Amino acid sequence: MSLKSQIDLGRLPRHVAVIMDGNGRWAKQQGEERIFGHHNGVTSVRETAEAAAELGIQYLTLYAFSTENWNRPKDEVEALMELLVHTIHNETKTLNENNIRLEAIGDLSSLPKNCFNELQEAMQKTAANTRMKLVLALSYSSKWEIIQAVKKIASSVVAGSISIDDINDSTITAHLCTSGMPDPELMIRTSGERRISNFLLWQLSYAEFYFTPKLWPDFRKEDFYEAILNFQNRERRFGKISEQLTT
Ligand code: FPP
Repeated sequence: MSLKSQIDLGRLPRHVAVIMDGNGRWAKQQGEERIFGHHNGVTSVRETAEAAAELGIQYLTLYAFSTENWNRPKDEVEALMELLVHTIHNETKTLNENNIRLEAIGDLSSLPKNCFNELQEAMQKTAANTRMKLVLALSYSSKWEIIQAVKKIASSVVAGSISIDDINDSTITAHLCTSGMPDPELMIRTSGERRISNFLLWQLSYAEFYFTPKLWPDFRKEDFYEAILNFQNRERRFGKISEQLTT
């Protein structure tokens, strides 16, 4: 019985988030420069997006470039930005053929102009697609996102449009980059690291975490199915006890 056929399509996570990690180590293992790993990681992005869309997952968020990644050597940052520009440009047609909408979260204004423009163009060209939203986290960090949200809420308080007592869970949620999206129920991280690395800290409050030792460039559809099956075998209690879930 294939892994895919074991998945219960009625109990899929609506939103899966992925920390794509291990490109550099993968390249090193091959005796290559780090960017070779990033280039090969694109195949894994394609496979994961295809697997998610084929199953019927509605949102797939990929951590492609963090705020902290700007501190990497200049050569690597430039090569990563070039790779993003080319990949987004080359994949737009496939996204449209597969009815997938591209979105992005993060401090997009900090991206190089050509990357920002390519991204905007791809988002516009895929805006009418309805099968799945592929969300790229670019120049993103959760602390940055929460600071932006707090600033916007504080301005509304100062302007008198909301009162402090009205600030609740929904207020914060509505001011994050992910406003309008369901929270991810599953977060996958490759490469054996067990960290959250400033990724969707608010949104992952109740997510299940799945860690695999596979390095990102080796991640394939079967690995994604394995993560989904693992998720489906867990009991999600949201602070309750088992008996409350069955009654
Ligand atoms: C982490 O591996 C990976 C990244 C910082 C970049 C991810 C980018 C891609 C897969 C390229 C294209 C992506 C899209 C969405 C078009 P690492 O460099 O931290 O690896 P290491 O931990 O082994 O050093």
